Amino acid sequence: MPPNRRFLLMRRPQGTPVPEDFALVTQETPALAPGEFLIRNHYASLDPAMRGWMDAEGNYMPPIPLGAPVRASTIGVIAESRAEGFAPGQWVMGLNALEDYSVGVAGGFTQVIDPAAVPSITNYLSIFGAVGMTAYFGLFEVCEPKPGETVLVSGAAGAVGSLVGQLAKIHGCRAVGIAGGPAKCARLTEKYGFDAAIDYKGKDEAALSEAIAAACPHGVDVIFENVGGIILDAGLMHLNLHARVGLCGLISEYNTAPRGCRNLWQLIVKRAQIRGLLVADYVDRFAEGAAQMGQWAAQGRLTIDEHIDEGLENAFASFMRLFAGTNDGKMILKIA
Ligand SMILES: NC(=O)c1ccc[n+]([C@@H]2O[C@H](COP(=O)([O-])OP(=O)(O)OC[C@H]3O[C@@H](n4cnc5c(N)ncnc54)[C@H](OP(=O)(O)O)[C@@H]3O)[C@@H](O)[C@H]2O)c1
Repeated sequence: MPPNRRFLLMRRPQGTPVPEDFALVTQETPALAPGEFLIRNHYASLDPAMRGWMDAEGNYMPPIPLGAPVRASTIGVIAESRAEGFAPGQWVMGLNALEDYSVGVAGGFTQVIDPAAVPSITNYLSIFGAVGMTAYFGLFEVCEPKPGETVLVSGAAGAVGSLVGQLAKIHGCRAVGIAGGPAKCARLTEKYGFDAAIDYKGKDEAALSEAIAAACPHGVDVIFENVGGIILDAGLMHLNLHARVGLCGLISEYNTAPRGCRNLWQLIVKRAQIRGLLVADYVDRFAEGAAQMGQWAAQGRLTIDEHIDEGLENAFASFMRLFAGTNDGKMILKIA
């Protein structure tokens, strides 16, 4: 069996992760048992959620054990197989880890994917993966926007946020995005078709609130929240009656003690609702979501940006882009 480079979690990060929390080691690949197959990982998805899996408290997934490779969704090619239905040479996608080789098991989470069905195999980690499905089901099922309504998206230049804004436009809504820096804000309006963009950098809650009021003259009917903190609090002050807040992520608090949300009383004032969303709840409907997203993409109505870094040795630096905001699109690590 080939040697396996693996990116291990060595200790639980305290606040912002540092390189010493991880180690890149070479280990032997165990021999396959009946029902197992060996995946040569080609690409890994780097997701903000992985930061939560590094903590001792489990969330919707158990914590990554110390000394184990960092869990990640990957796509790769079957190198060897002792499992029926999984043949060498087939492309597969599954929840594996940041490592050269992963062992898959028949009946597990790994599914065979067709490279001929997509423009780029990496699209299975962006538009047709969890990111695309989060945007699709999160917006349409949880936030229930109506044409003509105003949808406010935070983290708007990122993988999920950029798709949410584009879907809101396809649906006939006014889309307003919040992102960090003038370059990202220009991308929101010029590339993704948002009606307005707000640069949150250097703004306190009052300045953010002012900017939201200017960009949303008829108030906010839907907030698709990816960031939390003062960005969420500022948005809550502009809700319309019966508005919906879809809580997708709180990335501003993943490396810090939670600041919490201080303007929840606005939900009472506006008889609005806030609802957490988890893409895993929609796995049974991914084919439906992917078919619709694929159709819009083929019609040129969706722009998909992927930021692909190379090399398992760069796993830490690439992962940290998500928190520095230096990823331009879905963050993907090329392994093979
Ligand atoms: N609930 C679910 O099922 C689900 C599924 C997928 C993702 N998510 C969540 O969706 C959000 C976006 O994920 P993604 O994969 O699409 O990542 P992404 O948006 O492509 O990358 C993360 C972006 O977050 C922004 N950011 C980082 N730290 C920030 C801070 N302190 N304040 C404000 N913005 C900050 C940065 O953009 P700027 O340069 O604009 O700051 C960065 O580029 C995350 O909160 C994630 O946890 C949830």
